[in-house]
Parts: sequence; structure tokens; C-alpha cells
Amino acid sequence: MNDAHLDPGVGEVLVSEEQLRERVAELGREIAAEYEGRELLLVGVLKGAVFFMADLMRELPLFCEVDFMAISSYGSATDSSGVVRILKDLDINIEERHVLVVEDIIDSGLTLSYLMRNLRSRAPASLEVCALFVKESAHKVRKSVRYVGFDIPNRFVVGYGLDFAERYRNLPYVAVLDDSLLPEGM
Ligand code: IMP
Ligand code: MG
Repeated sequence: MNDAHLDPGVGEVLVSEEQLRERVAELGREIAAEYEGRELLLVGVLKGAVFFMADLMRELPLFCEVDFMAISSYGSATDSSGVVRILKDLDINIEERHVLVVEDIIDSGLTLSYLMRNLRSRAPASLEVCALFVKESAHKVRKSVRYVGFDIPNRFVVGYGLDFAERYRNLPYVAVLDDSLLPEGM
């Protein structure tokens, strides 16, 4: 099977292309209003947030720059190892900068907590988070996420940047992954 759109592992569509487009535009308007007059630095978390960030940025009529970090908390599958490490650090110095971290999805919140602690220590002028998806499991960190695209149930989802073992990022919508593909206990 080579056609990701027809893959039997891709289940019910949770968020359609149209819903994604509308919500990203709304987030853009909200962020643009709050950052008016300030220069923004978007920090994308590779790789999943790239798709969202590219669309979000085009909804921002502000001067903004981008930089990226890669962090690993998971192996190639879906279970959290509890270990977070930086695979690629930022290229630029964020001291005195208005930083908005752009995340694809927050599950346990482990990645985000680590990232925020790390970035805060670099003394940015401000530091906020925009996450496209926040799962129910992330209720403890939900309040620290300034901009949330969608609150979703604890299902494993793929598409629009989100992968399962590096696959399905290119789906233009977000769908639930068929339970039969997931390891036990997910
Ligand atoms: P956390 O540290 O448990 O919050 O995990 C966050 C990271 O796990 C995200 O940036 C994703 O890379 C990955 N992740 C968590 N849930 C999903 C999902 O449902 N689909 C795809 N990736 C996920
Ligand atoms: Mg991933």
C-alpha cells in the first residue's frame, strides 16, 4: 500500500482540512492582535509543527522570524520513554526576544515542560506557547498553553504534520489511527 490516503490504518477524520484552515486563521488573528507592534520569533518544534507553523505564519501580518528545535521524547512508536533530549538546538539567541513556541500536539506535557524550562533560562522578553492540539491527558499543562487550536480526546492521531513511525505527516487532515496499529495499552 503506497497511497497514504487509502491506508486502512487511517481511521475516522477528527479535523477536516476546512476546519484546520479556519482555526489556524482564527489563531493567527488572535496572535496578531496580541503581538501588535512587537517583533515575534516563532520557535517550531520539529518535525510535526512545521506544517502548522507554515500555515500559521502566513496568517500573521507582523514582522516575524522563525527558528527550530528538535526534541526527542519518543522512539519511533507511540509510547513515551520519559526521556527528553535536544537533538537540534536553536540557531539564534533568544535573549530579549518575544518567543512563541509552536507545537503540534501536547500529550503528557513532558516535552513542553522541559522545553519551557530550557527556553526560560535563556531570558527571552516573553515566552508563550501555541499548540494545535492538546489532549485530555495534558490537563496539568493546559493552562500554560496560551493558544490552543483544538482540545482533543486521548486518541492517537495522524496527519497535518503528525506521524506514526514517521508516516502520514502528509495527510491534509487529521485522522485517528486505527487501534490495531497501536502497541498494547495506547
Ligand atoms: P508529550 O511530551 O507526551 O506531550 O508528547 C508530545 C509529542 O509526542 C508531540 O510533539 C508528538 O511528536 C508526539 N505525539 C503525542 N501524541 C501524538 C499523537 O496523537 N500523534 C502523533 N504524535 C503524537
Ligand atoms: Mg512524533
